[in-house]
Amino acid sequence: MRTHYCGQVTAADLDQTVTLCGWVHRRRDHGGVIFIDLRDREGLVQVVCDPDRADTFRTAESIRNEYVISLTGKVRRRPAGTENPNLVSGEIEVLCHTIEVLNASATPPFQLDDDNLSENVRLVNRVIDLRRPQMQKNMMLRYKVAMAFRRFLDAQGFIDIETPMLTKSTPEGARDYLVPSRVHPGQFFALPQSPQLFKQLLMVAGFDRYYQITKCFRDEDLRADRQPEFTQVDIETSFLNETEITAIMEDMIRFVFKEALAVELPCPFPRMTYAEAMRRYGSDKPDLRVTLELTEITDAVQDVAFKVFSGPATSGGRVAALRVPGGATLTRGEIDEYTKFIGIYGARGLAYIKVNDVTQPNESGLQSPIVKNLHEAALRTILQRTGAQSGDLIFFGADKTKVVNDALGALRTKLGHEKGYVTGDAWCPLWVVDFPMFEYDEDDKRWTACHHPFTSPKDEHVELLTTNPGECLAKAYDLALNGWEIGGGSVRIHRADVQSTVFEALNIGPEEQQIKFGFLLDALRYGAPPHGGLAFGLDRVVTLMTGAESIRDVIAFPKTQRAQCLLTNAPGEVDEKQLRELHIRLRQKVETQVEVAKA
Ligand code: AMO
Ligand code: AMP
Repeated sequence: MRTHYCGQVTAADLDQTVTLCGWVHRRRDHGGVIFIDLRDREGLVQVVCDPDRADTFRTAESIRNEYVISLTGKVRRRPAGTENPNLVSGEIEVLCHTIEVLNASATPPFQLDDDNLSENVRLVNRVIDLRRPQMQKNMMLRYKVAMAFRRFLDAQGFIDIETPMLTKSTPEGARDYLVPSRVHPGQFFALPQSPQLFKQLLMVAGFDRYYQITKCFRDEDLRADRQPEFTQVDIETSFLNETEITAIMEDMIRFVFKEALAVELPCPFPRMTYAEAMRRYGSDKPDLRVTLELTEITDAVQDVAFKVFSGPATSGGRVAALRVPGGATLTRGEIDEYTKFIGIYGARGLAYIKVNDVTQPNESGLQSPIVKNLHEAALRTILQRTGAQSGDLIFFGADKTKVVNDALGALRTKLGHEKGYVTGDAWCPLWVVDFPMFEYDEDDKRWTACHHPFTSPKDEHVELLTTNPGECLAKAYDLALNGWEIGGGSVRIHRADVQSTVFEALNIGPEEQQIKFGFLLDALRYGAPPHGGLAFGLDRVVTLMTGAESIRDVIAFPKTQRAQCLLTNAPGEVDEKQLRELHIRLRQKVETQVEVAKA
């Protein structure tokens, strides 16, 4: 039906007759001449209809925004001074000869170039929203990125193998989405939180290198970088160690950034242990574009009179400082704002010291309500360790270690970007390695897996599984990019006895092991090769590339923060017949389901 895409007609086509199809982006009536900006997925072209051709002109008068039309016309140069450098087609316009309306459109719910739309309006009207040039660009970039991943992996001998969606629960740490079985009353499938166990089984089965770009489902609290269903680039290989796996993976990420964005990422990516990342940045996915760092002072404030510091310092918590060079110029109002901000992370306050004269570590040189409660030796250590200079400001966090890390970690990033404490690098990847095997769950009073229970401990730490789980490190690695965790993985346990020991450490006894993971333990007994892998969050990678604020902007049909699809109104109620077939009776009376409950 057409000779060209609208967005691709250029000066190279001058004097040619072209036929174009697309949507009316804008129609402007310039008294006697009608201009139409015609849009398709490649962009816009300006079309001119003049009254010489009466039929065509009448049709042009009748069309409205978002009508689908087809037209034929001649490409000509725009008059000097009216070129649009922002458009590929900006040097030319099409003088319209004939025009046909292929389909009318109701008045769209919003102007496509309105930049102030609420996300709700956009999600309810997602089809129209997706027509917006930015969303078209996002989806095209997403495709380009996915293809780049595939090309790289294919060239490296990875093969794409599909794994089931209806499966058994795998413990990635979130809640499962369950699917009731009609055939087996009272039994449920779980949608996969990731293909983790299947990809390990494929290694045992001898496929050597596997990948899949696949959906994962997790019923967890949603944030800007989380969706209940999201896409992983999931990878597993046999006979490679941690260093070899991360080396291929970073080659892949460099390849993808070059293909999709023409960006050269650093080579090699820097590496840091988990312990160092937490100490210096309070985060296991630090944004290294920000130059500010935390300083450990727990040991220096154990005996100070200021209970806010000495309390956590003597009871297993953390006291840390964040030096802000030249920060003495921060206003009271700004400090109050930051104090409020870190409250989100559970911090109960944000103590600070203004360094007026660094040579006087006492009340004459340091301005702060807390100085009188800190002795001079402590103050001296704080100034020395932070490297403070006159004119600086030092913030403090004192609490349980997690609260201090979360709060000062977030403050560091926010303040760093707002006040320009940044390196100027656009992309800062970082491998974070040597994660702990376990985290202690204070609520449940038990150890949980930091990554997942199939992660191998460091060879020299296998003993610690039983003697001191808290000190046991894992062969696990995450890739952070600009403060986001874009991927994570590990070398896996390939011996059944080690796997059982890890299950024991997680308080999963022999019987439960057999019921939940019997198929894995069996497979490990039949010649499982050493193997490992990782998964990247495709949505997150593309979001970072587009600079969007939320991963919803790179997903065609995303869910809201409340895990709903506003376009289709899912989830929704189902009728009694369906429930009956599934052997389900609702426990809770939802208003409109009183009937169901009675039945
Ligand atoms: P993990 O749970 O770390 O590892 O997930 C891997 C990557 O997936 C992305 N991701 C998400 N993206 C959007 N929304 C979510 N709710 C979400 N959850 C995770 C992140 C993360 O780095 N099976 C292991 C991988 C392995 O060990 O090979 C796993 O799933 O970018
Ligand atoms: P207070 O003694 O409660 O008036 O607190 C003195 C200063 O310490 C104030 O600036 C508080 O914001 C700060 N502060 C209180 N609790 C903490 C904490 N847990 N960590 C860091 N600073 C705190």
